[in-house]
Amino acid sequence: MARLGVLTAGADCPGLNAVIRAVVGRALRADCTVVGILNGWGGLLALDARVLTDMTVRDILPLGGTILGAGRLKLTGDDDRLHDVARAVATLEVDGLIVIGDRDGLTVAYAVAQRGVPVVGVPGTMDNDVGGTEYCVGYDSAVSTVADAVDKLQTTASAHHRVMVVEAMGDQTGWVALAGALCGSAHLVAAPEISVHIDTLLEHLQARHDAGHTFSIIVVAEGAKIDGLPEQPAPHAGPMALRLARPTVGELIGLEIETRTGFEARVNVLGHLQRGGSPTVYDRLIATRFGAAAVDLALEGRWNHLVALKGNVVTPVPLREATQRRAADATLYDLAMLFSN
Ligand code: F6P
Repeated sequence: MARLGVLTAGADCPGLNAVIRAVVGRALRADCTVVGILNGWGGLLALDARVLTDMTVRDILPLGGTILGAGRLKLTGDDDRLHDVARAVATLEVDGLIVIGDRDGLTVAYAVAQRGVPVVGVPGTMDNDVGGTEYCVGYDSAVSTVADAVDKLQTTASAHHRVMVVEAMGDQTGWVALAGALCGSAHLVAAPEISVHIDTLLEHLQARHDAGHTFSIIVVAEGAKIDGLPEQPAPHAGPMALRLARPTVGELIGLEIETRTGFEARVNVLGHLQRGGSPTVYDRLIATRFGAAAVDLALEGRWNHLVALKGNVVTPVPLREATQRRAADATLYDLAMLFSN
């Protein structure tokens, strides 16, 4: 009987438990044991593991986060600890690993695979920025949170004739901000993939108000680089001491709006709300497809692949591709800006 290890590596997001549930369901039907490894790569090094059964996963489909615990340990380039990972895999006597992760987590998975550990990767991150796949579990849920926030802000912005700035996460890409703006009917959006000067943003706002609009909503990706603004902090700003030391890009835009247009502005940094809550049905569907496909690849011995979505087809691609960042599709920007007037 085969034994498969499964772990969640990198930032959590809604849908990871749906993947875990599918891995267990498919594996147990193939007479394969699933060993859940706790807290990502650090838990593997500590041999923190427990066998997962149908009972363990029976009610986790709608549950956000990860029952295994996440971990953001970056081992790439640390040869000693990468070899420790290989030794831990041998100690746990698993035939290989299913790694559900973001780009950082899957980059470590690729480094581990290069040291001879059989690995199948599953893309799971709200950022949707993993190379090789058109979709990452968690993305639809995060976009739904941003769109819901924009929906909610329409009435208060209208009541007080204000400009609302909504800051979305997404690390260095604008997938979440662009789709969230489009789906929440925001009026303007800024993303790392679209270069824009603060003067242009303010001119857009002024034109809207000159045309009679009494309020506006702008969605900005945390990784956006707005020309003409003071240096903006990088995402992943780290501990609170660093985060409190510098305004975010959304806050900088809000300040510029008030000081240069006279419109009242309020800033809503959505933060980790985008990583919480129950996965949408689309995320549950994709997660289940990905989890089952990952087990199939492992049982067929097709290791060192990433389970990917191309069109609506779940297909394996070389794991190496997951180490690349996939920039957001700029056509989302063009569509979102159709409604900026
Ligand atoms: O990668 C997911 C993500 O939420 C990014 O969008 C964001 O920049 C980062 O993680 C936040 O990191 P942390 O959870 O360490 O604050």
